[in-house]
Amino acid sequence: MKGVLICGGSGTRLKPLTDITNKSLLPVYDKPLIEYPLNVLLKAGIHDIMVITGAEHMDQIAAYLGSGASRGCHFSFCVQDKPKGIAQALGLAEAFAAGDSVCAILGDNVFFDDLSAPIKSFTNGAHLFLKEVHDPERFGVATMTNGIITNIEEKPKSPTTNLAVTGCYVYDNRCFGFIRTMKPSKRGELEITDVSDWYVQQGQAKAMTLIKDWVDAGTFESLFKAAELVRADKQAATMPV
Ligand code: DAU
Repeated sequence: MKGVLICGGSGTRLKPLTDITNKSLLPVYDKPLIEYPLNVLLKAGIHDIMVITGAEHMDQIAAYLGSGASRGCHFSFCVQDKPKGIAQALGLAEAFAAGDSVCAILGDNVFFDDLSAPIKSFTNGAHLFLKEVHDPERFGVATMTNGIITNIEEKPKSPTTNLAVTGCYVYDNRCFGFIRTMKPSKRGELEITDVSDWYVQQGQAKAMTLIKDWVDAGTFESLFKAAELVRADKQAATMPV
């Protein structure tokens, strides 16, 4: 399985912090944000990773990550010319994936659960990670029965469940064939939720619900919350038993 770390976009909701700096390089307590999704991939044993970002930020992302040698992995870097959607960004990794399945993860998502087991045992279809939230209308929202997703919608006005689709997507290689056929949504993007829905329609989208915290750190409040949670987690780990 190949890893795809999606770090493009304009970070509008975090301006002026993102005027110069890519969102995924902003600090979350003691490390840049990108370290957290990257660690999900490394922990799952994925060492061949494509990092996708806009041309304006490629220099700083590459300068920070380097070749990957110091982490025992290999980074490839790819420019997304315009932020035309998460699925469009993933589509850029088709040649890199070279027939393999992919674990695509958003550069602004911080997971506190260990996602390794389902990623390592993935065979085919799609596997997503859901989290119960109080504001599902901000996210992709799913309905799940016995570990299979039966419905998925992007930011519905009246969500029918409170299960947010988090930003870690495990897909078999067929996702690329589907992405090639996609048309932009009303907001002009190729939506990752439509890729997941393609698997849902075939009854091939599995999911698990996360137990620990999960943060999409795309706003001031959520970036701050991520830092607080990381700090609390670190302090708990060093507490004498
Ligand atoms: O965090 C989970 C949510 O992420 C999901 O529940 C939603 O279904 C999914 O659409 C996405 O929603 P967001 O509103 O958070 O997406 P955003 O536009 O903030 O993009 C998420 C990350 O993807 C962000 O770090 C930037 C990157 N991105 C985004 C776009 C639109 C790209 O690299 N290229 C892009 O073209």
